[in-house]
Amino acid sequence: MKQLIPTLLIIIVIMSCVDKKKTPNNAVATLKMSQSDSFKKWWKEGVLYQIYPQSFNDSNGDGFGDFRGVIEKLDYLESLGITMVWMNPFFESPLVDNGYDVSNYKAIHPRYGTMEDFQEMMDSMQSRGIKFILDVVVNHSSNEHEWFKQACSSRDNKYYDYYHWWPAEKGKPPHRHSLFDPEGGWDYVEANNSYYLHTFAEAQPDLNWENPKVRQEVYDIMKFWAEKGVDGFRMDAFQFVSKDTTFPQFPTGHEENFAKWYGMGPHLHDYLKEMYKEVIEPYDVFAVSEGSGSTFQDAHDLVDADRNELQMAYHFDYVTLSRTPEGYTLADFKEVFTKWDKEFAEEGWLAIFLSNHDNSRLVNRFGNPSPEFRRVSAQMLNTFLMSMRGTTYTYYGDELGMTNIDMPTIEEYVDVSALGEYGMAKKRGEDMEEFMRTLNYNSRENGRTPMQWDDSKNAGFTTGIPWKRVNDNYKDINVAAQDKDPNSVLNHFRKMVKLRKDHEILVYGAYELLDKTNNETYCFTRSFEDKKVLVLLNFTDHDSNVSLPIVNTIGDLLINNYNEFMVNGETVILKPYQAVICNLKK
Ligand code: GLC
Repeated sequence: MKQLIPTLLIIIVIMSCVDKKKTPNNAVATLKMSQSDSFKKWWKEGVLYQIYPQSFNDSNGDGFGDFRGVIEKLDYLESLGITMVWMNPFFESPLVDNGYDVSNYKAIHPRYGTMEDFQEMMDSMQSRGIKFILDVVVNHSSNEHEWFKQACSSRDNKYYDYYHWWPAEKGKPPHRHSLFDPEGGWDYVEANNSYYLHTFAEAQPDLNWENPKVRQEVYDIMKFWAEKGVDGFRMDAFQFVSKDTTFPQFPTGHEENFAKWYGMGPHLHDYLKEMYKEVIEPYDVFAVSEGSGSTFQDAHDLVDADRNELQMAYHFDYVTLSRTPEGYTLADFKEVFTKWDKEFAEEGWLAIFLSNHDNSRLVNRFGNPSPEFRRVSAQMLNTFLMSMRGTTYTYYGDELGMTNIDMPTIEEYVDVSALGEYGMAKKRGEDMEEFMRTLNYNSRENGRTPMQWDDSKNAGFTTGIPWKRVNDNYKDINVAAQDKDPNSVLNHFRKMVKLRKDHEILVYGAYELLDKTNNETYCFTRSFEDKKVLVLLNFTDHDSNVSLPIVNTIGDLLINNYNEFMVNGETVILKPYQAVICNLKK
């Protein structure tokens, strides 16, 4: 390929250079809302890193990650340049859903340490400029929560109304789908002769938000943690909290559109406004919703500033694309990001992410995990995420390009969601071989394997027996090795984080897609005040050309995951998974 490139070819060597020109007055006068100071917030500019605590670092050899393990890795966190940490739940819990089933919201599960350890961990993060985001799981509690245990005892118990019940004398309740339980969303309790509702597992009864006492309990929990100093909240499964408690019949097959039928219930906005007044505003914290309803309007109604409800949301369209091994086209991928960006260009704010604890590894779903292309494709994806508008969320290990593990048989799975889906597929009579192929590809257990710190036993995660099998590739993919290699995924990630933090344009700049129908490359510009940058990404394992007039105005390179950058007239030749950001000349 290289020999074919004519002599006109210009090889521009990487030069990181910041344009220091001031904004001209006329541009200041026309500053849009999205560039005004009142629109700017720390949580929009933040670079978030998600820690799954039981898989991050084990300090005491019990095989589970813990707070002191995180404390040991504070230098590492700081070295990434990240400015926010969201940690998955670590509260007291029977761990049916790895902590998303809380039995005491104000106590720490001993596996993770003590409240003192928590405080030390959070304070130390904050003293290094890292804000702490708490996971609040209040659509449901654990069935071992004292409230639920009492509620089950009798209909006269004061906690009975903390949950949703269907008295058995009315017959069987109208069908409700459960995301984790093949038997459906209601379960019977003999002691009070009622069925309780659970959107997730049987062990996760839904709290009754229509009861003002429940809401006060939740605000009380949030205040408890806000007083300890947390900077924000991630509201788990939050779109589901309000329900039509007459429980009308839903049509057969309705669950195909789950968010529409179960999300954004009748009083959700009233509750959010109440929460804002009670907690968000007085404690000056922010909250991000998991889920955003089923329309753009739903999402705006949750997060627009004048609503005084939540401040940010994340929707699932980005990850839904990648749920099957058959994949998606790059044009589809671009369309999803572009339409969401357009809808939120002037008002509202979203999270930008491609993976988290509910998905398999980023590089398997959107990049290329083969030894040849894993490094460059992971770098390309991290470049993409850090150059989009929205608060970027990076899941632990993705800064190394950690990959899926191979789990072909159901016996190895422990996750309540995987087991539930397996049961449902069997019930529907699906081809179970095909089902296992997809599960092996998309199961969230892939994304929960221990962090790969070095090439010692268990990847340096634990001196004991790890709760979850360490990925076999840890000798090749680990922090220690990548730290030393200037071209590693890790060091590229650090550069990219710094670039985003140094360039407001990457946070607030207007986005414009340039190559809508190209199925190999993704090219877009970001513009802010009088500046413009160009982002060029090759999503394939071969060279790919981008021919656009804008190429004539390419200026300094800000980042490049290759040593070379090939331009020929109006054409850029991108190497496999090459990712480049450059300034544009006026
Ligand atoms: C959310 C969490 C997921 C959990 C579920 C039930 O979707 O992200 O991990 O299983 O809620 O709490």
